[in-house]
Amino acid sequence: MRGTHVPVLFQAVLDGLQVRPGGRYIDATVGGGGHAAGILAASSPDGRLLGLDRDPAALETARIRLSSYAGRAVLVHSSFAHLVEVARASHFLPADGVLLDLGLSSLQLADPTRGFAFMKDGPLDMRFDPTHSGPTAAALVNSLSPEELASLLFRYGEERHARRIAEAIVASRPLHTTRELAALVEQVITRRGRIHPATRTFQALRIAVNAELDTLEVALPQIVDVLAPGGRLAVIGFHSLEDRLVKRFLRRESRDCVCPPELPVCTCDHRATLRLIGRKPVRPSDDEIAANPRARSARLRVAERI
Ligand SMILES: C[S@@+](CC[C@H](N)C(=O)[O-])C[C@H]1O[C@@H](n2cnc3c(N)ncnc32)[C@H](O)[C@@H]1O
Repeated sequence: MRGTHVPVLFQAVLDGLQVRPGGRYIDATVGGGGHAAGILAASSPDGRLLGLDRDPAALETARIRLSSYAGRAVLVHSSFAHLVEVARASHFLPADGVLLDLGLSSLQLADPTRGFAFMKDGPLDMRFDPTHSGPTAAALVNSLSPEELASLLFRYGEERHARRIAEAIVASRPLHTTRELAALVEQVITRRGRIHPATRTFQALRIAVNAELDTLEVALPQIVDVLAPGGRLAVIGFHSLEDRLVKRFLRRESRDCVCPPELPVCTCDHRATLRLIGRKPVRPSDDEIAANPRARSARLRVAERI
């Protein structure tokens, strides 16, 4: 791996989580360890951090980055789909704060062997966890029917040209590399503005390969389960699909009744578990975006366990 990953909305995350000495925090997407290092520093001298990542290479980077906090940091190779189980086994229940910084890191994007980047040539892999036997992006593009491919591109990439791209893929397969796929998409759709035409196709495949939205849906209720009363959750999303999912979950969990509005009386036994912090998501400043263009689409949502 090369380069570094600059954590997005760094101070807003620390403020949102109300990090304090002695607290017990879970960074469920520890990545390069940038936010985690901030949490450990702000919770000095005795705060503790449990870091999870699906990617063994990310965990290794985090281990090196956090080595000066050895004894206060525990790193576990796991998906946040198993948050409760990992938190329990690591004696992190209940937690004072949980962070999810979704998507992929600059380190993963910079490594051509991982297959995330259309600007670099590499195998069409895209698995966050290469030790996992799940399908690679190559397996999906080379095996799905044109209809299945078009639906995947439309659903996870919100790609308007999904059908045309799917047909071109099927006509040219087998495809093995990121450059092959990116060049093919470039032939099918013309570039408008600064966004590369293959951006949505790559996003869609990455979401599908890693079942990202399903995993997020499974994880969100578990965050509520692991938090102590007054504990905070902070979630950073980078595209509208994940932010929508987070927003709906938080809205539902902040209500005492979730009955359909047409019902005259409440029949659900739902009780609010969260209090929303801030009416709108926190967005990066222009200065942050200028210094770290990856921050451009980030949205941070924060809530507190009741
Ligand atoms: C944006 S990066 C996090 C960067 C980190 N906040 C930092 O400051 O360095 C997202 C990380 O989440 C990891 N990830 C994605 N899906 C995951 C999942 N289901 N469970 C655990 N980690 C996941 C990725 O491997 C990646 O390392």
